[in-house]
Amino acid sequence: MAAADSFRIAPLSEVMAAEIVGLDVSRPLDGETFAAVNKAFLDHQVLCFRGQNLSPDGQIAFSRLFGQVIVHDNSRYALADHQEVLVLSNDVDENGEHIGVVDAGDIWHSDLQFKPRPAKCTILYALRNPSRGGATDFTNQYLAYERLPEAMRMRISGLRGVNSISKLKNSRAPISGERKGAREFYIRQERENPDVEHPLAQVHPETGRTSLYCSPRFTYRLAGLTDEEGDALLDELVRHSGKREFRYRHEWRDGDLLMWDNRCVNHRATGGYAYPDIRLIHRTTVLDRR
Ligand code: SIN
Repeated sequence: MAAADSFRIAPLSEVMAAEIVGLDVSRPLDGETFAAVNKAFLDHQVLCFRGQNLSPDGQIAFSRLFGQVIVHDNSRYALADHQEVLVLSNDVDENGEHIGVVDAGDIWHSDLQFKPRPAKCTILYALRNPSRGGATDFTNQYLAYERLPEAMRMRISGLRGVNSISKLKNSRAPISGERKGAREFYIRQERENPDVEHPLAQVHPETGRTSLYCSPRFTYRLAGLTDEEGDALLDELVRHSGKREFRYRHEWRDGDLLMWDNRCVNHRATGGYAYPDIRLIHRTTVLDRR
C-alpha cells in the first residue's frame, strides 16, 4: 500500500475543512504522502490531523514542508529555544505573568495581511483545551467571492484594500479595554509595519481560484476611493465575507493539529473561557511566496 493511501480524508462541513484520519505527522512524510496532504489542503482549505503527539521540532519540521516558517525574534511569547513557535495561552507562570498571547485574533482576519508578504498557512497544535469555549471560526473566502453579485465582482476588480496592523485608525477593530498601553503599542507596531495594499479579488497562486481578500481586523480603507465611498463598500464586503453560510467552527480536541490557508480563508478566535480553565496552543506560520 502506498503511504498516501494509508490515510483517509473526511470532510468536516459542507463549506470547507476536512479531517485527515490515520496519519502521524511526527514521522517524515514521503513525497507521495506530502503531495496527497497538500492536495487535500488546497481542496479543503482547513485540515485537521487528530490525536497528534508533536514536539516543537516536529511541528516546525512539518510546517517547513509548506514553505518558509517565520521566526518570532524577541517575542516574549515565542518558545525560548524554538523561536518559530508562538505560544497562545491564558496560563500564567509562577509570577502571575501570562505565558502566551491571550487575546490573539478575536476579529475576522487573515494572518499577516498587513505585511507585503502575508501568511500562506497557519498551523496550530492544541496541547490543552478549556472545558468549554476556545473554538476557532473560519469563513471560506472563495465562496464569499463567488457568491458576490456579478456587478459587485466587476466593481471590486482592480480595487485594492489598504491594510494596517494598527487598530488606532480602524473603526472596525475596537481596542480591548483590557489592553493597557494600547496606544503606544499600536504606534510602535505601525512604525515597524507601514500600510500595505493587496487586491480585494485575489487569485490563489496554486489553485487559480479567486477569493475575497479583506478583513475587518486589518483592511481599513480602499485605495483610490474617497472615505465616504470606500467605507460604505468596505462595510458591505466585510459583512458579506463573514456570513454564516461560508463558515466552519472548529471545536478543538487535545492533540489536534490544525492548518488553514490564509490566502482563501478568514478566521477568528471565539474566546468563551477563563483562567484557571487553560487553553494552550503552539502556533507556527508559513509565509506566502509573494
Ligand atoms: C489566531 O488568530 O491565530 C488564533 C486563533 C485561535 O486562537 O483560535
